[in-house]
Amino acid sequence: MLKVGVLVSGRGSNLEALLRWQRSGDLEAEVALVLSNRPNAPALGIAASYGVPTLVREQRRGEDRKGAQMDMSRAMDERGVGLAVHAGFDRILCAAYVRAWAGRAINVHPSLLPAFAGSLRAQEDALRRGVRISGCTVHFVTEEVDGGPIISQAAVPVFPDDDGAALNARILEQEHRLLPEAVRAFARGELRLDGDRVIVGRVPIGKGGV
Ligand code: GRF
Repeated sequence: MLKVGVLVSGRGSNLEALLRWQRSGDLEAEVALVLSNRPNAPALGIAASYGVPTLVREQRRGEDRKGAQMDMSRAMDERGVGLAVHAGFDRILCAAYVRAWAGRAINVHPSLLPAFAGSLRAQEDALRRGVRISGCTVHFVTEEVDGGPIISQAAVPVFPDDDGAALNARILEQEHRLLPEAVRAFARGELRLDGDRVIVGRVPIGKGGV
C-alpha cells in the first residue's frame, strides 16, 4: 500500500480529512508520517490522536531551509514514503527537495490557481478583490510557488455578505474532498506527472492535453 508523508504547519484539517478517509478504507493509502516545521502546530495533535508518527523539524536560526527540508525528505525516505502531501505547509521549498520529490509531491491551495498563487491569505485576498467565484486547487509541487501542474480544482460561489471565515469554510469543505481523492488516484496508479503534464488514467489533462 502507498505510504504517504503529510507536511503541515498549522491547523491540520486537511490532514484530518486524509486520516478519516484512511480509517474508513477510502484512501487506499496509509499516512505513515506527519512532518511539521512548527512544534506547536495543532495538526501534530491530530496525528497523535490517530496514532500516526510525527517528526518536528524547525528551521534553525541562521540555517537555510535546505537543511530542514532535506532532513524531512530523508525521514520520509526511511519510512518508505512514496507521496509527499503538502497540506498547509508554509515554507517555500528548496530546489533539492523539489528535485527529490518531483512527480511525488502534491499541494493544496485555497484558490483557483493561478489566481492568488503564493498568498498565505488567499481567501481574504479574494474577498478584497471582489471575486465572485473562488475555490481550491490540488497540484503537483514544483519550484514555482503554487505553480505546478494542476491535478484538480473545485469552484465555490462567493456571496456578498461573506467574511473570510465563511468563505474559508466553504473552500475547506472542497479541499477535504479533493485532496483525499488525489491521494487515492495516485495510490491506484491513476494519476501521474509526465514532464509538465498531468495524466489521469491514460488521459493527459491541462497543458497540451485534451
Ligand atoms: C488550507 O487552506 C490549504 O489550502 C492551505 O493551507 C490551509 C491548511 O489548512 N495550503 P489545514 O491546516 O489543513 O486546516
